[in-house]
Amino acid sequence: MKALTTLRGLGRSELNGLIESALVYAGRAESGETSGDQLSGRAVAMMFFEPSTRTRLSFELAVNRLGGDLMTFEPGTASTKKGESLRDTALTVTAMGADILVVRHSEAGVPDAIHDWTGVPVVNAGDGAHEHPTQALLDVVTLHRRFGSLQGLRMGIVGDIRQSRVAGSLFHAMPVLGVDSVLIGPESLLPEREPDGFEMSTDLDCHLGDLDVLYLLRVQRERGTLIPDDYIERFRVDSDRSAAMKPEAVVMHPGPINRDVEITGDVADGPRSLILSQVANGVPTRMAVLTALRDGIT
Ligand code: NCD
Repeated sequence: MKALTTLRGLGRSELNGLIESALVYAGRAESGETSGDQLSGRAVAMMFFEPSTRTRLSFELAVNRLGGDLMTFEPGTASTKKGESLRDTALTVTAMGADILVVRHSEAGVPDAIHDWTGVPVVNAGDGAHEHPTQALLDVVTLHRRFGSLQGLRMGIVGDIRQSRVAGSLFHAMPVLGVDSVLIGPESLLPEREPDGFEMSTDLDCHLGDLDVLYLLRVQRERGTLIPDDYIERFRVDSDRSAAMKPEAVVMHPGPINRDVEITGDVADGPRSLILSQVANGVPTRMAVLTALRDGIT
C-alpha cells in the first residue's frame, strides 16, 4: 500500500487483509505483548491541522508500539503560523526524514495533495467532509470482533451524514463487506444523492426493530450544520428507542459524542454500546495500516 487517503476501490481481500492484521495486533495486546519493531528506524509525522483526541492519540500509541520514531507537529506553534505554505511545511517535514505522514485537515483533498507533493506514504486521518478511512476500518474491526463476520448485517447510519467524513469512508467499506445499510436522518442532513448500495430514510423508528447495528454520527456544528428543531424527538437514541431494538443489536458512534443530542448517556454507557470498544480497536487498526504502508515502502 502506498497511501491510505480513501477506502474507495479497496476490495474485499484488501480490506480483509487489514482486518486480519488488526485482529492479530489486538490479540497480542490482550495477551500483554504490546511492543514490536515493525517501524524500527522509521519516522512517522503527525500533521494534525484540526482538533483530535482519539485519532491522534491512537496513531501515536500505534507508532510507539511498533517501535517507530514519532514526529509531532502543532500547527498552532509551527511555521504555518508565520505564513509557510502547506506544501513547504510538508516538504520540510519530509526532508527531515519522515517516512509516513498522518494528516488531518479541514479541507477535503489535502492528504492526497501532500502525497503528490512529497511522494511519501500518507494516511488520511480525516479531511473535511470527505473521508476518514482508519475510523471506518476500526469500526469494521469492532463489528468483526463482535459478530464474527459482517456479511448480512443490517446497519442504520443516523445523523449528520452529509457532513460526515466517517460516513464517506463507510460508504466504500460496508457494501464490499456485505453489510446491508440504510442512511437515516432529516432530509437536510442526508446526502443529495443515494450512495451506491445504500437506502435512505427519514424515519428512524420504523427501522429500529430490523437493525443489528445502529451507527450514530455527531451533528457537525463546526461545518455549519444546523440542527432541525425536531431532531431530538425524531432521531435521538434514548432508552425507549434502545428497548425497541433486537436484543443483540449494538450502538456505535465514532466520537466525540454530544450527550443528549444524538444519544442519551444511559444508552452511550449501556450494554449495547460499543463506543469504547471502537476507541480501543483504533490502536491495533492503526498499527495494521502503518505496517501495510511500511511494507509498501520497503
Ligand atoms: C470524527 C472526525 O473527527 O471525523 N471523530 C473521530 O475521528 N473519531 C467524527 C466527528 O468529528 O464527529
